[in-house]
Amino acid sequence: MKFAIIAPETQTKKWKVEFEKQAPREELLIGYETDRPDEIECVLVWGHPKGSLEKFKNLKLIFSMGAGVDHILDDDSIPKDIPISRIVDPQMAFSMTNYIVMAVLNYQRCLYDFQDAQKRNHWAQFEFDEKNLKIGILGIGHLGLDAANTLYRMGFEVFGYSNSRKETIFPSFYGNQLSEFLNKINVLVCTVPLTPKTKGLLSAKLFNDLAFPTYLINVSRGAVHVESDIMKAIKEGKLTGAFLDVFEKEPLPKDSLLWGNPKIKITPHIASLTYAKESIRQALENFRRIENGEKPLNEVNRDNMY
Ligand code: GLV
Repeated sequence: MKFAIIAPETQTKKWKVEFEKQAPREELLIGYETDRPDEIECVLVWGHPKGSLEKFKNLKLIFSMGAGVDHILDDDSIPKDIPISRIVDPQMAFSMTNYIVMAVLNYQRCLYDFQDAQKRNHWAQFEFDEKNLKIGILGIGHLGLDAANTLYRMGFEVFGYSNSRKETIFPSFYGNQLSEFLNKINVLVCTVPLTPKTKGLLSAKLFNDLAFPTYLINVSRGAVHVESDIMKAIKEGKLTGAFLDVFEKEPLPKDSLLWGNPKIKITPHIASLTYAKESIRQALENFRRIENGEKPLNEVNRDNMY
């Protein structure tokens, strides 16, 4: 029994079915309770309880079933020498890009204004113009870059920002050029991983640096933004509104003030879900590579945290 899946129940169910299809002869542990922990060499995880991997003394691979790996690196009990790989799936980029395009277009074509008019049986022709957008993608990794390229090809003005220099078909900034990037844009799409550097990055300090009233779209992690600062920035007109898929606390508490804010659109962390078939395929392939003495694909750099 080399493999274990440690994840919430709904995901576990899907992944188990797919695992049994792709590796019918492998015994699979669900969860971390076992009297044979020494046999486990590969864990597939999403939001495992901290410390729960400690008992697996012969682990060779931790596979993140999510694109973000903050949920793994948060756990100090994981030995530093065990490789961590993550899913990198074109299908996920397709979903993420479509989500971002949807959020951008709803805003650009004033959909919410027309919805309000519809509630009043009101024909709002010529009352709203298409907005002239300058879209900034904060974080141009696998997912952010795909969205940026698509928006650029659709004809939007696009700017990128990332930690390190990137060759892009649109103008992009990096390193200490964050203010220059923020000066250019009036839509801010956040696709950064959660790291100590990005924690709380979308706060009053950053909103104050924006040159124009800006629409915020956050699809990365809730801990990257400060919800009270977003509400304040909306009130002050620094943000024109926000489209949020991720939250400081998930599920978003029933009494959160975000729910009732007409300028905030909320979806429940669904911008880009992992696909069981491809996730399991990549996990199995990566483990096979390790067994063959090769490096796993999409290995996480622990210093960068992605
Ligand atoms: C989802 O948020 C993921 O990281 O895949």
